[in-house]
Amino acid sequence: MKKKEAFDRIEQLRKKINDHNYNYYVLNESIISDFQYDHLLKELIDLEEMFPEYRTEDSPTMRVGSDITRQFRQVNHRYPMLSLSNTYSEEEIFDFNKRVSTALGEEPVYVCELKYDGASISLTYKNGILDSAITRGDGEMGDDVTNNIRTIRSIPLKLRNDDYPDEFIIRGEIYLPLEGFRKLNEELISKGEQPFANPRNTASGTIKMQDPSIVAGRPLDCYLYYLLGDSLPYDNHYENLQKAREWGFRIPEQVKICRGMTEIMDYIDYWDEERKKLPFEIDGVVIKVNSLDDQVKLGYTAKSPRWAIAYKFKAEQARTKLVSVVFQVGRTGTVTPVANLEPVPLAGTVVKRATLHNEAQIKLLNLHINDTVYIEKGGEIIPKIVGVDINDRGYNAEPVQFITNCPECGSPLIKLPGEANHYCPNIYECPPQIKGRIEHFISRKAMDIDGLGEEITDLLYRSGLIKDIADLYTLKKESIVELERMGEKSADNIIKNIEKSKSTPFNRVLYALGIRFVGETVAKILARHFRSIELLSMAEYDELVGIPEIGDKIAGSIINYFGSPNNTEVLERLRNYGVNMESSGSQKSISEILKGKTIVISGEFEKHSREDYKRMIEENGGKNVSSVSSNISFILAGGNMGLSKKEKAVKLGIRILGEDDFLEILNKV
Ligand code: IVH
Repeated sequence: MKKKEAFDRIEQLRKKINDHNYNYYVLNESIISDFQYDHLLKELIDLEEMFPEYRTEDSPTMRVGSDITRQFRQVNHRYPMLSLSNTYSEEEIFDFNKRVSTALGEEPVYVCELKYDGASISLTYKNGILDSAITRGDGEMGDDVTNNIRTIRSIPLKLRNDDYPDEFIIRGEIYLPLEGFRKLNEELISKGEQPFANPRNTASGTIKMQDPSIVAGRPLDCYLYYLLGDSLPYDNHYENLQKAREWGFRIPEQVKICRGMTEIMDYIDYWDEERKKLPFEIDGVVIKVNSLDDQVKLGYTAKSPRWAIAYKFKAEQARTKLVSVVFQVGRTGTVTPVANLEPVPLAGTVVKRATLHNEAQIKLLNLHINDTVYIEKGGEIIPKIVGVDINDRGYNAEPVQFITNCPECGSPLIKLPGEANHYCPNIYECPPQIKGRIEHFISRKAMDIDGLGEEITDLLYRSGLIKDIADLYTLKKESIVELERMGEKSADNIIKNIEKSKSTPFNRVLYALGIRFVGETVAKILARHFRSIELLSMAEYDELVGIPEIGDKIAGSIINYFGSPNNTEVLERLRNYGVNMESSGSQKSISEILKGKTIVISGEFEKHSREDYKRMIEENGGKNVSSVSSNISFILAGGNMGLSKKEKAVKLGIRILGEDDFLEILNKV
């Protein structure tokens, strides 16, 4: 492309993108899809990369890289959200104290706190009511994620007492406790999805999700550590924090007044050890000057306050040798590279393996066989390789190559655009995928077939007795007894438990099938809605996405599942063997007031959540749909209803009901 041409196109793209931003954020109107928008932005990024001489500070690409996404309203921070200067060295804490003391003319009182490892948030309260919750963004401007933050129970929507300022800001950290992180990952793995890398990413990803009901299902929590405003109750940080606790905020109990370097160092040493026992992750300690007047005197650099510093803990690391890389194939065909290491002690255990995530990770590390590597334990279950000592690399070292074919069945692997992982597409013949599906089917939360562990499943598979989940119901005691180390009694037991599993409730059978993205909760929703495998198998995309909590990804996966003759054949056999394929009892229905009505919900509501309204519609015999057409009965509209929906409704002459009208129909006011 010629320079002139590139320049013109860059100008044109900037104008287009800016216009779309204005339409979207200011006029609340979206003319193009996110996909088209991202496409324009990508073209601009590419052109600016090719012609760096045309880069400008005000180009819309300059926002990319902050945590701002297009889907949220962007808000200016009244006070910028700065970061803290960091250090790993005790000496620099001494220097900090010296600098501060010199500037103030005396050694001040400090407050020491933990440095929580999550996502920072800025909450504004007006007259005691939560007004907004904004992410850090680029420090100047962040995303308005108020609806998501409202789902976090420890964040007060309304304050206690009445001695709070009319308006103030309180900042803190949203984090995911370790236990919640583990559970969430277990759930994702059981659904055949990729687990999250660590609690911090999970927390920051979760507060930026589009659907607050998913946020509500994740046990996020929040510690608040910083107040801002014109009329705070005290002239020092510590007392303000204690006061904020009385107003109902969750203020860390580990906050401590420290006088002098010895007390500061004791605090650091204490928490470097004790942090291992905390139910959440911290990555250091923050030291703040207590007096607000002193804070003003010390002021700020462009990036951080001069009155505070963060001491970061070193993650425990170990150095060892990479022996080999093996590739594992999971139940859903995902291929994960795993490093075999020379065993080395790290944080209380001997480590022999480390995860390498995917091909991009291997390339990023530029990993070679026999490399000397550094490993760390994060929130992850198995440690990760964080670096390579290239000085220790031999001349003829071989780079680690990602495989092109499945190590188990030889099929060429595939990698979808935009996804990080490689998959083996040979779903029905690749052994670990077959075994994985069977193991999932018999697991405790699924069909709960006791006595059939991983080892016996493997034996049954290898001896040709089972090739899919339906084959389990053809097993005979005589053939099980012949397996290695299998007694009569155990065989009897297995047969009895397989028989018993036939009457497993339908929602668990549905979960047991291992349909991608259908975890326990989704299986329950589907079972309640469709009542039988037959009805579910006939469901069309629109009906599926019309159900609360069922999005595009899940709907697509369900359609895909029932579209495969292999699956329908297995289902048919399961039914013939007597496995329960429908829900028992009658559907929980409160009334039939909305029978035959098709309803679209739009906007934000005050009296009940969107999910509650969707449930109310279903329980009263109505049907939720997502798009406005001439077939719908009415729109249930809250505040900020989408402009395009509104226009369409007016054009089609469709009634728009408010919350109150709707509740009146249901007699619920
Ligand atoms: S005070 C002006 N206190 O660390 C300073 N920050 O790099 C305001 N953080 O973005 C921050 N624990 O997300 C403060 N006890 C604590 C903290 C803390 C974690 C985070 C925060 C901030 C980052 C600074």
